[in-house]
Amino acid sequence: MKALQIAGGRRLSGDISVSGAKNAALPALSASLLTTGRVVLHRIPNVVDIRTMSRLIENIGATVATDSGTCCIEAGNDLEPIAPYELVKTMRASSLVLGPLAARCGRARVSLPGGCAIGSRPIDMHLEGLRSLGATIRQDLGYIEAIAPKGGLTGGRISFRRPTVTGTEDMLMAAVLAKGESVLVNAAREPEVVDLANLLRKMGACIEGDGTSTIRVEGVDSLGGAEHSIIPDRIETGTYLIAGAMLGGELRIRDVLPDHLRPVIAKMKQAGSEIEIRDATTLVVRNNRPLVSVDVTTREHPGFPTDMQAQFMALMTQAGGVSNIVETVFENRFMHAPELRRMGANIDIDGNLAVVRGKTQLTGTDVMASDLRASACLVLAGLAAQGRTVVHRIYHLQRGYERLTEKLTGVGASIKIIDV
Ligand code: EPZ
Repeated sequence: MKALQIAGGRRLSGDISVSGAKNAALPALSASLLTTGRVVLHRIPNVVDIRTMSRLIENIGATVATDSGTCCIEAGNDLEPIAPYELVKTMRASSLVLGPLAARCGRARVSLPGGCAIGSRPIDMHLEGLRSLGATIRQDLGYIEAIAPKGGLTGGRISFRRPTVTGTEDMLMAAVLAKGESVLVNAAREPEVVDLANLLRKMGACIEGDGTSTIRVEGVDSLGGAEHSIIPDRIETGTYLIAGAMLGGELRIRDVLPDHLRPVIAKMKQAGSEIEIRDATTLVVRNNRPLVSVDVTTREHPGFPTDMQAQFMALMTQAGGVSNIVETVFENRFMHAPELRRMGANIDIDGNLAVVRGKTQLTGTDVMASDLRASACLVLAGLAAQGRTVVHRIYHLQRGYERLTEKLTGVGASIKIIDV
């Protein structure tokens, strides 16, 4: 097994370039199933989840050629609209092929994604949405079958009981080929949803309102190929911002879109972090003054992102005072807290509230990663801790952070992959 060994306490200075967003690249790869045209995607991060999605769409019948961050996909006419268990069990975002396959092929058979460490993660809103577009949904042997009417999906009103990121993306991709108009109500507003809409428009889709909670789609008969560059990863950016806030000499984070991180930057500044928007694509962060504890509640975009909650908790262990962190999106997203406590953090959990009392000196030790963002949190804690930290089960981290050890080593961290 692989683990990450970190020698803590080193100042971080220099330049880190952020990769394309995993959570924008995944729906973009899936959207390529909607056309026989050639889709060329740039800035695709080389991470496990992307390789899984590439395998999944190849399994369906598309050809995928990847070369240094650019993916060329062609989904011809003989597609087998199935997402098998052995792939879906490793990446629940496989449900993103449901909408495109139902729209393109008139049917889809997708293994029900299991839950994961952070919650039960149902896809009922995806299925309800497909029903609103005329599909029949059946479940058997752990698979979901979605069957469109003979003439294909028909436009309809999809009202989400709460915003769902991949649910919104999945339904967008179903609606673009449905006959007539569709309206998505209470839609997710994340930048990754807008990036998908931009790609779909380049392919010939008629979409407006993306980025707001009401999205209108006028179905078209077919879509063509397109070329598109994926947006930067705002969560990777936020993770390195926090590294700099904890240990920065001067950390310059490049190739980012600062506007996607407004809620994170605001909270970090409230905590005393020194963050400068150097130019349209560069953030600079320093750690020149003591941090103060601030409260944060995770919300759907444009609120504070749940995917930054674990990393922010690591930061709050280094702040003076009491920080109340409330997680409102997932039901079990504090598994990093017991691991931080083993490093010396003072954290009490009460349901979806974590109370962090800082500042505490963290001490390096062996810790266990439980999910993608918890792993990032433990890396940040290891960078700040005294002594050696070994983060186990780093396969979680490799799902979503491209070249993390290389990027951190490049700015002065002592971090390497070891065999354990
Ligand atoms: C996306 O997951 C992201 N994944 C997650 O990032 C992110 O944490 C999450 O959005 C919230 O921002 C991808 O984009 C691939 P949701 P998603 O549907 O779409 C419930 C990471 O770290 N729900 O917005 O699965 C759900 O259980 C990952 O990169 C239903 O009940 O999240 C959750 O409580 C982790 N029924 C809430 O809604 C449904 O049909 C929001 O989930 C769908 C969701």
